[in-house]
Amino acid sequence: MRIEASAPSNIALIKYMGKGVSGSNLPANVSMSYTLENMRTFVTIESGTEDTWLPLEGYAPLSLSDAGRKKFLDHFSRLKARWSITGQYTVRSANNFPSDCGLASSASSFAALTLATWQLAVKTGAADEDTENAESLSRLSRLGSGSSCRSFFSPWSMWRGEGAQDLSLTLKLDHAVIIIEKTKKEVSSTEAHRRIESSLLYAGRSERATTRMEELLSALRQNHWESAYELCWNEFIDMHALFETSRPAFGYMGAATWDVLTKLRADWTALGDGPLITLDAGPNIHLLYRPEQRELAERQLTGLNVIKSWK
Ligand code: DP6
Repeated sequence: MRIEASAPSNIALIKYMGKGVSGSNLPANVSMSYTLENMRTFVTIESGTEDTWLPLEGYAPLSLSDAGRKKFLDHFSRLKARWSITGQYTVRSANNFPSDCGLASSASSFAALTLATWQLAVKTGAADEDTENAESLSRLSRLGSGSSCRSFFSPWSMWRGEGAQDLSLTLKLDHAVIIIEKTKKEVSSTEAHRRIESSLLYAGRSERATTRMEELLSALRQNHWESAYELCWNEFIDMHALFETSRPAFGYMGAATWDVLTKLRADWTALGDGPLITLDAGPNIHLLYRPEQRELAERQLTGLNVIKSWK
């Protein structure tokens, strides 16, 4: 028996940053994301002699650190226990986007692992197909990596509390990421979640995220694109300000990131139009364009190192 599943990544416009105390990735604030259907992790599961992880061939080469492999297999064990799955398995995974491009793949990886293990539970008769749904799978996936719980809904997802849910918003956008740096982060996002609580700016963060999300939703629903851009800009600056004011402080935005951000903002000022802009816990710049902005997108991205969702 060979199980195959895949799941998309997602990019948060309202960021998950900070956790409750329970250690089960309960978020300190609400978050909202756009699902990146073309940036996916593929997972296969086959019987083996012990539970192990291997890279899945046929995709971009992937290597996991010992800690990364442990986090992945710990989640597999958690799911096996949840559905009383017996036996030992070889779990393979890979992304269809380069793993050394500085893009977070934990959202798509853990969502794909959760879906694949669920299929294993159903196929081996350990669980009945109708006992889980996208929302319960989202809650389970959160235990592996928080941001993965948003990857179960498309095109927009909102996460509050134990799991994510679909947002009734049909707007589809074109995603591109400007790769500024490919190197591994010195402070992982898991560590960032802990450290930002020491920032003096952390007070009021959850309220700011809630207000911004409500405003962003309403801006997107009413096609107030410039307001949506401003809210997204404020939100990633808010998160990066928490990083820069943590004790000890850390940061991901160097001169090269600022250089590109400044140009994109100047274009916005000159044209009164542009993409939604956001950064994760890293130096690379994510852009979301409306499909009719294709010409502008091509012009802005020429000469930059870019991964984009359109041909
Ligand atoms: C900055 O989901 O990677 O990308 O729950 O510890 O695995 P863990 O953290 P993770 O955090 C990602 C945070 C972020 C913002 C976001 O995706 O909302």
